Amino acid sequence: MRKLFEPLQLGAIAMPNRFIMAPMTRARGTQDNVPTAIMAEYYAQRASAGVIISEAIGISRQGLGWPYATGIWNAEQIAGWQRVTSAVHAAGGRIIAQLWHMGRVVHSSMGGAQPVSASATTAPGHAHTYAGKTAYEQARPLDLSEIPEIIAQYRQAARNAINAGFDGIQLHASNGYLIDQFLRDSDNHRTDNYGGSRHNRIRLLAEITQAVSDEIGANRVGVRLSPNGETQGIRDSDPVPLFRLALETLSDIGIAHLELREPPIDGTFGVGEQPPLAQVLRGSFRGPLILNSDFSVARAEQALLEGTGDAVSFGRPFISNPDFPYRVAQGRPLTPDDRDTWFSQGREGYTDYA
Ligand SMILES: Cc1cc2nc3c(=O)[nH]c(=O)nc-3n(C[C@H](O)[C@H](O)[C@H](O)COP(=O)(O)O)c2cc1C
Repeated sequence: MRKLFEPLQLGAIAMPNRFIMAPMTRARGTQDNVPTAIMAEYYAQRASAGVIISEAIGISRQGLGWPYATGIWNAEQIAGWQRVTSAVHAAGGRIIAQLWHMGRVVHSSMGGAQPVSASATTAPGHAHTYAGKTAYEQARPLDLSEIPEIIAQYRQAARNAINAGFDGIQLHASNGYLIDQFLRDSDNHRTDNYGGSRHNRIRLLAEITQAVSDEIGANRVGVRLSPNGETQGIRDSDPVPLFRLALETLSDIGIAHLELREPPIDGTFGVGEQPPLAQVLRGSFRGPLILNSDFSVARAEQALLEGTGDAVSFGRPFISNPDFPYRVAQGRPLTPDDRDTWFSQGREGYTDYA
């Protein structure tokens, strides 16, 4: 496993290895979306990752619809995250904040008003609320006049993340959330500058990426995309040219990393509609490429040797193996995770994996 243990520079961040902890919502915040003390402990336990990508963090109340997830729009939340980043740094680690606006999948009981999206569409399935799973509501299309405010909120969230001690940020532009709702054509029916042509559909992603890069430096900004299949009802009829254009645009801005979340067609958590496109898209991005989904250690090493990507992010393995890179180095067996405690509150299945 030599490649995985090679260092890698991710913009401003020097990673001692290429095992990245994938972003994972774990629902251990307060009902006011403030990080808790056990979150500091959890992340510090995982400090041996090349870099930790935090769970998705809401940029605004409007954009956050997951019970006990956290935000980064007020002073209390920033102070809570400060305790997390301090604990990770004290343990010798690095951590970046994944910034999140969920768009149409925010239930009004969580976001305080009708959800917003590119167009007046309704996600399939059920929203997560404090009252349990509730049918999704139809979204309200964002008015052109509201878009600068959304971009400003991302910009402020990036500044807040740096003030909270994060080493950088990642824009959550994947998995069917707001940016992805604009990007892919299944649910973007706009006829203005943010809909229709591929150029128009990547405009929101490009403007947000530029704004956060202007604020904190492109060398501290990364983006996560999910090109190869449907997520939460969002898909594209012709993803390769769309994502090629997106990657070229992000390269021009000079971001520090791109992460592709691509489940294989036999994926165990999400399935791709086609095999991962990383190999096809690689040439369109000039910068470090992170691969994700369903990677075993052996397959990750192989992908790095073949040059498909520069690092691999692991989700579930990091839940139940806090010292994952060390375990691999020592050839110790891996502990399986327990799905029942992914989003439960409290320590069980969270900080109690040895
Ligand atoms: C409990 C859990 C929470 C997740 N939360 C997020 C999230 O907040 N943001 C995100 O981009 N992906 C999220 N994901 C997806 C993971 O980042 C990753 O793509 C997925 O687990 C596949 O990687 P793996 O096969 O290594 O587990 C989550 C996955 C799990 C299991």
